[in-house]
Amino acid sequence: MDDDSATLAPAGQRCLAEDPGLGDPRLGDPGPGDPNLGDPNLGDPNLGDVVVSESQIRHRIAQLGAEITADYAGRPPLLVGVLKGAFMFMSDLARAIALPVEFDFMAVASYGSSTRTSGVVRIVKDLDTDLAGRHVLVVEDIVDSGLTLAFLLRNLAARHPASLAVCALLAKGPPSEQPELAYVGFHIPRDFVVGYGLDIAEKYRNVSSIRRYIGTVQA
Ligand code: IMP
Ligand code: MG
Repeated sequence: MDDDSATLAPAGQRCLAEDPGLGDPRLGDPGPGDPNLGDPNLGDPNLGDVVVSESQIRHRIAQLGAEITADYAGRPPLLVGVLKGAFMFMSDLARAIALPVEFDFMAVASYGSSTRTSGVVRIVKDLDTDLAGRHVLVVEDIVDSGLTLAFLLRNLAARHPASLAVCALLAKGPPSEQPELAYVGFHIPRDFVVGYGLDIAEKYRNVSSIRRYIGTVQA
């Protein structure tokens, strides 16, 4: 369903398409509408370069929305957002889908450091909706090792949905490593990133683009 996702360059390389009409965020010009005006690093020298710009996110979400609209015609999905990271993506993605979708959310916590998942996951907030017979589309912010998602999919599949698929904004590594993802916004290098819902210690979720976060992070 998704062979269209963008693969971005490894750290240090610059391969993003030029973005006429918006400022070049890599050069510290965040473009119109970005609240992070003034100091592009927000006072944090570890907040690095832009990996996916605001306009790239917008364009890709329009494509994903069109794909999902076509794939789910006649069987509108229940969107299951994984909090907190997916809230912004889910909000924009839902508006790009021309079907009467429904929403639910769950929150999971993984044990381990703040930049690596241990694979031991616990449900912090469960769904309100009965999944039996529903077409469930899980909306994830980012898939790294895939351990969090594997746990979620096992858990959700046991609730007997009519179908179960995943739409992730970001996936680390090449497409061959994540065959379980029906829709992927961007394949990115294995760096830690923040922004557009993604955090480091709860910060930078409100940054409009996806940016590399450099340096060691306290667990
Ligand atoms: P996985 O289990 O290794 O696939 O990790 C998935 C979860 O770890 C995501 O849902 C995020 O909450 C978090 N995560 C992984 N990589 C990043 C990152 O680069 N930035 C922010 N959160 C991340
Ligand atoms: Mg997180």
